[in-house]
Amino acid sequence: MYKQYIEENKDRFLNELIDLLKIPSISADSSYDDDVKKTAEFLKTKFEELNMDRVEIIPTDGHPVVYAEKIIDDKLPTVLVYGHYDVQPADPLELWDSGPFEPVIKKTDIHPEGAIFARGACDDKGQMYMHIKAFEAMIKTNSLNCNAKFIIEGEEEVGSANLETFISTYKEMLKADVILVSDTGMLAKDVPSITTGLRGLSYVEVEVVGPNRDLHSGLYGGAVANPINILADMIASLQDENKHITIPGFYDDVIESTDEERAEMAKAPFSEESYCEAIDIKSTDGEKGFSTMERATIRPTLDVNGIWGGYIGEGAKTVLPSKANAKISMRLVPNQDPNKITDLFKQHFEAIAPDSVRVTVTPHHGGEPALTPIDSLEYKAASLAVEESFGKKPIPVRSGGSIPIISMFEKVLGLKTILLGFGLDSDAIHSPNEHYGLFNYFKGIETIPLFYKHYAQIKK
Ligand code: BES
Ligand code: MN
Ligand code: MN
Repeated sequence: MYKQYIEENKDRFLNELIDLLKIPSISADSSYDDDVKKTAEFLKTKFEELNMDRVEIIPTDGHPVVYAEKIIDDKLPTVLVYGHYDVQPADPLELWDSGPFEPVIKKTDIHPEGAIFARGACDDKGQMYMHIKAFEAMIKTNSLNCNAKFIIEGEEEVGSANLETFISTYKEMLKADVILVSDTGMLAKDVPSITTGLRGLSYVEVEVVGPNRDLHSGLYGGAVANPINILADMIASLQDENKHITIPGFYDDVIESTDEERAEMAKAPFSEESYCEAIDIKSTDGEKGFSTMERATIRPTLDVNGIWGGYIGEGAKTVLPSKANAKISMRLVPNQDPNKITDLFKQHFEAIAPDSVRVTVTPHHGGEPALTPIDSLEYKAASLAVEESFGKKPIPVRSGGSIPIISMFEKVLGLKTILLGFGLDSDAIHSPNEHYGLFNYFKGIETIPLFYKHYAQIKK
């Protein structure tokens, strides 16, 4: 029934997504606050067309949450859908082939049937909107068989700082049986997978200050510590020759994956060669003793995200800068506590600073890791849905990315989340030319009702 409805409404489903992608809802940049608001209103209007029991834009101390619900029968299970309507900044703009907020459909090698190019196409407007259209298909064809609640936030890309308060405040309203999220990926278009884990995040900014002004590097160079040189030394010392992180206590709480789990992971199809080719590198690099997939998912990491200081203008200016800065992220694995890791980093980074400089460490937002068991009813329903839709059983895979609110859902609402993502690594989320395959968009819309169907059956 709903399958035919989806087929008949494909063009409109795509056009609505295009309209949604035109609004630059960049949560990190306050000059876009009006557009963020407009996006929330756009979603509210779309929900209102669907005969919901309740649709509301609920303010927070930051960007608002869009909430909608349809309760068809108190005795039926309730699916709580989470997604985010905010997007990452689009820069560097000059690297986009078309405007980040002027969606265009183009064919690619991976998407011969076309992909939609725009900031947020995959992360997460495209994936979030699949849920609204899947819901539409179910409600319009009388095939909705679970109650549905939607919580679409506008601050995921800036750390969901206000959402924790929100879910605590609205605990009663958010009562559900399972949380369903499409904000992750799958292995390939013909290799369906379900994400069973996310990494946590600790993010810090560091500043190294030397002399009270920029100095002549001829007059002072050699005698006064150069903050950039020092910062580079300090960062380099955070990993040893095996790419093991040297911060004391960093690995203390890590729950190591068992040999069995690692053997299971190794079964997922993966080509080191295509991995390298896709991002144009000669070889991969990382912690000794682990595979590329393991390094990117089940192991904690430390990466410099940005570094600046000194003279970076045209030509050569001889200067010994007074300051150097860097932004550093640590991806964390289950059982590592982001606050504890941030403290360990701060203590260590201050301790290794030479007397010749002053160091400050400022924490930014973080997030906890999350795990989904694969022996639960929820997982089974998701697995059956994907199998019915793709004709293949999905592979459970851990992801390296982070969605901080997932662990909060478990803590505050006591609910497990199913991470049913349809993105591909090649979709370039957070990068120039982000896109989302039309195949993935429509396949997602078709798969979601199957989750509701199998979940309702399993919960009977
Ligand atoms: N949707 C992503 C996370 C993601 C992408 C997980 C692909 C798994 C696969 C999310 O929007 C995101 O970008 N999260 C941030 C963290 C946040 C605190 C800014 C991240 O992972 O860097
Ligand atoms: Mn996302
Ligand atoms: Mn993101």
